[in-house]
Amino acid sequence: MATTFKKLVALTGAGISAESGINTFRDSGGLWEQYDVMEVASIDGWRKNPQLVQRFYNERRQQLAEVAPNAAHHILAELEAHFDVTVVTQNVDNLHERAQSSKILHLHGELTKARSSVDSSGVVDIGYRPIEWGEKASDGSQLRPHIVWFGEAVPMIGKAADIVAKADILVVIGTSLNVYPAAGLVAHARNNTPIYLVDPSEISYPGRNMTMIREKATSGMEKLKRMLVEQP
Ligand code: OAD
Repeated sequence: MATTFKKLVALTGAGISAESGINTFRDSGGLWEQYDVMEVASIDGWRKNPQLVQRFYNERRQQLAEVAPNAAHHILAELEAHFDVTVVTQNVDNLHERAQSSKILHLHGELTKARSSVDSSGVVDIGYRPIEWGEKASDGSQLRPHIVWFGEAVPMIGKAADIVAKADILVVIGTSLNVYPAAGLVAHARNNTPIYLVDPSEISYPGRNMTMIREKATSGMEKLKRMLVEQP
């Protein structure tokens, strides 16, 4: 008889990729200390200075080629031997894919893809190469990064909310839960769904009981795996 695994949903943020060498956004030394978020990661910023935005994401993409998934990404993929795992990530990197997680939903887009700057059509894989200024999408508009910027709708949020609502276990890893609507996903978990939060900082989410694992993602995920698999 086929085994039915419990549904484990992992909501991940920049912190899970920190030990791979990718900067988080809001920590000390994070990207939003070095750049004005509204200049490089908003639709208004793109309208004002698209070449600056293009350069910012070209650099992020180039950096992505030079890093690798860490143990936290790998443990999440390994948990598929015990659970029906879906990763809902705010990250635009591809480290969950490279660690072989099989179900991944990107809320904020993907660095290795580009699309039309008129609408969200014409998505193409570009790998790690830069988008050139003047390079056209299939509709003739300037090709832009396939990233959800501040001031834009988050098309995958409804699908993500449905996934979280069906979770038997929710694991939140490496996110400050500052950015909505992504942060609001936690509230979609059923009341009896246990929630684990892996983050070295103190993160609070009013109204929900959570088991806090105050550690970096790699050691925190080791601990979580022991809690979930070895001592169920
Ligand atoms: P943040 O930079 O806001 O939060 C990163 C979290 O990771 C913090 O809670 C840190 O404590 C934690 N952290 C740092 N090092 C860690 C480690 N080694 N292991 C585990 N956790 C660690 O990043 P996000 O919450 O992902 O959106 O930010 C959400 C969104 O804001 C991003 O998707 C991005 C950003 O602006 C867009 O650009 C549209």
